Amino acid sequence: MRKLQGFAFRLNKKLLLLAAPRKNIPMDRLEIIQTLMRKKKLNNYLEIGVFNGHIFFRIKSDFKIAVDPEFRFDGLRKAGKLFLNPYNIYNRYYSKTSDAFFEQDAPGLFARKKLDISLIDGMHEYAFALRDIENALHYLSGDGVIIVHDCNALTAESACSFEEWKARGFTGTWNGDVWKAILHIRSLRKDCTAFVLDTDHGLGIITKKPDHNPLDLTRDQIDQLTFTDFNMNRKEWIGLKPQEYFNDFFRI
Ligand SMILES: C[S@@+](CC[C@H](N)C(=O)[O-])C[C@H]1O[C@@H](n2cnc3c(N)ncnc32)[C@H](O)[C@@H]1O
Repeated sequence: MRKLQGFAFRLNKKLLLLAAPRKNIPMDRLEIIQTLMRKKKLNNYLEIGVFNGHIFFRIKSDFKIAVDPEFRFDGLRKAGKLFLNPYNIYNRYYSKTSDAFFEQDAPGLFARKKLDISLIDGMHEYAFALRDIENALHYLSGDGVIIVHDCNALTAESACSFEEWKARGFTGTWNGDVWKAILHIRSLRKDCTAFVLDTDHGLGIITKKPDHNPLDLTRDQIDQLTFTDFNMNRKEWIGLKPQEYFNDFFRI
């Protein structure tokens, strides 16, 4: 009897967890991407900065492009992932920097098919992240969405430059100053809307909807900003929103 009661208690607890409001369960980049693909019928996927393919291999699309100068997986992992998700048969890998990819391969790849959804997660420095965003925007369809990882660095350590992170022996969280790229888009690309969801290190969301309330910083001003400046203004500067805003914005 005790055993049965214990089982019923555990089952109840699980059911309660499943029914818990979305508010209490953090959404990550994978869930955001999968939801957009499913609900908004976005298909053609590009990931800049792939690492071991933790996200890339889970994406279900017949048009998937992976770009990274140093992929961290071998043939065996690829084969295993093909078994787990047959869509991986369509994967195309570009073992190079995003700059080289956009210069050499993107014009041909996106000549007939537009890009629908992209995860930007390569080099986490302002100038690099901004180039990746602007290059992706160039090929993005009208209804397409760009997701930028690491937009909400919480500490000065995690917001440091690549050189500082390297000097630290690549230890600890490194978000870099990707937040500046969001600030840049919100100030200087009035043809786009950008905001950041307060989850998974800050998920920047960029669409081709015109922004009716842009910020007014110049590139020089953004270049001069420090983490302390950001920390005092983060909510306004990157348009930080609770994750529930995702559903409202996309009417999901
Ligand atoms: C944080 S990891 C990516 C993680 C992956 N997107 C995920 O969600 O699991 C960053 C990756 O960016 C790659 N990277 C660094 N510089 C790059 C560049 N210039 N172009 C493209 N990728 C770059 C690194 O090799 C590394 O694998």
